[in-house]
Amino acid sequence: MALFDDVSRLLPNQPVTDLDDYVGAGGGAGLAELLEIDRDELVARVADSGLRGRGGAGFGTGTKWRSIIDTATAEDLAVALVVNAAEGEPGTYKDRALMRWNPFQVLEGALIARYAVGASRVFIGLKERATEARASMAGALAAAREAGWPGADVVELVAGPDEYLYGEETAMLEVVEGDLPMPRHVAPYINGLFTGTANPSLALVNNVETLANVPAIVARGPDWFRSQGTDDSPGTMVFTLSGDVESPGCWELPLGVPLDTLVTDIGGAVDPKLAISGISSALIPPDLFATPADFDAMADAGIGLGSAGFVVYDRSHCVVRIAATLSRFLSVESCGQCNACSLGTSEITALLERIDAGDGEPADLEELATRATKVTDLQRCALPTGEQLLVVSLLESFTEEVRDHLGTPCWSERDPMVPKITDVDLATGEVTFDPTYHRKREDWTYAPE
Ligand SMILES: Cc1cc2nc3c(=O)[nH]c(=O)nc-3n(C[C@H](O)[C@H](O)[C@H](O)COP(=O)(O)O)c2cc1C
Ligand code: SF4
Repeated sequence: MALFDDVSRLLPNQPVTDLDDYVGAGGGAGLAELLEIDRDELVARVADSGLRGRGGAGFGTGTKWRSIIDTATAEDLAVALVVNAAEGEPGTYKDRALMRWNPFQVLEGALIARYAVGASRVFIGLKERATEARASMAGALAAAREAGWPGADVVELVAGPDEYLYGEETAMLEVVEGDLPMPRHVAPYINGLFTGTANPSLALVNNVETLANVPAIVARGPDWFRSQGTDDSPGTMVFTLSGDVESPGCWELPLGVPLDTLVTDIGGAVDPKLAISGISSALIPPDLFATPADFDAMADAGIGLGSAGFVVYDRSHCVVRIAATLSRFLSVESCGQCNACSLGTSEITALLERIDAGDGEPADLEELATRATKVTDLQRCALPTGEQLLVVSLLESFTEEVRDHLGTPCWSERDPMVPKITDVDLATGEVTFDPTYHRKREDWTYAPE
């Protein structure tokens, strides 16, 4: 059964929820290869493939595994693998798409990673609300255990909270330990799970899509993996597209395709004003749509690929109102452990809402710029970096429109939603956003309807 076309390697053309179908289509070959190669060769294949993490930062996966192995060996530490399946970033659905349509490939990648770093336990952290993805992964796990896949017996699914921060790796460790999703000071490669003097440990955290790439890299080799994508960002990525486009949904494309291919050629966007990858990144004006969608080219252009969930807004939207909506999301989701982030995100949101209401003054623009500089002070996690990118890009790329808005009430009749995706119909591409989000408050409760 052919599950993939010439480009795709991750998102099949139909759901593969039966183990026999997966194996019949060539699945399981990466795990089988572990009988033939040692751990060093395994890590070398992943490193040589150039695979970079798909959770947002694009860090080299082989390098990450190597450093976990080296530290654990030198200091005799227990290792846990945490599969980051929270997918908290607005605008993305790729991880849930993979878990729903290709759960065995995700699981096989996790089991190979478990073997590589010598993890004694594996936790897959999903949101409780992601019911379909959870059911799909639970079914795959049960079938893998029955089939005797090595390591399947130490895998647990963790149904976590709906908060954005659940996906931040140290907050996820807190949730696995039964606490709230509050980021830690210390990285997972220093302090892992259930750590104490009796149990010094560290954790490897990898994103779902990162791990879904691993089985074929191991089975088919680094050169095969590099046959798609660019030298520095090899492979494909599952892009999510939503907002003012005719063809939303999840699209697997080689890394390095111009952003315009996704937004205009595939998405059919008419007269876009801007796009943004997720929420924690810069606003992208159309004159940057020619940028190749890969980690380095996007970073060099000051925008950022993130987890490749692009939301498009057309010219019927006001950019200040968009920024206020996105900033409010970051302010609501900030956990309040760091003053600059907690105060800064809410003050920036208030300033943007003031300008949107027509009460803005020239001094507010300076105030916005100053707040954006300080919002990251002493940050424990990268949430306020997203706020900074948002404000800086607003002031730099949309200077005229923001200035024109001062003292003038908003002209737009559109009210942008927070693009927090609750579902994508993988057959039609139809995207559903969380209709309750606007009621969420800074203490993470919801105002009554
Ligand atoms: C506020 C915040 C939210 C995040 N949410 C997610 C998420 O939902 N899923 C994810 O894989 N990574 C998320 N990350 C990134 C993770 O902390 C981590 O870098 C990633 O899981 C590492 O996996 P990778 O190396 O395979 O990319 C988030 C980071 C921040 C700062
Ligand atoms: S930077 Fe913000 S979101 Fe991150 S831990 Fe500090 S207060 Fe919480």
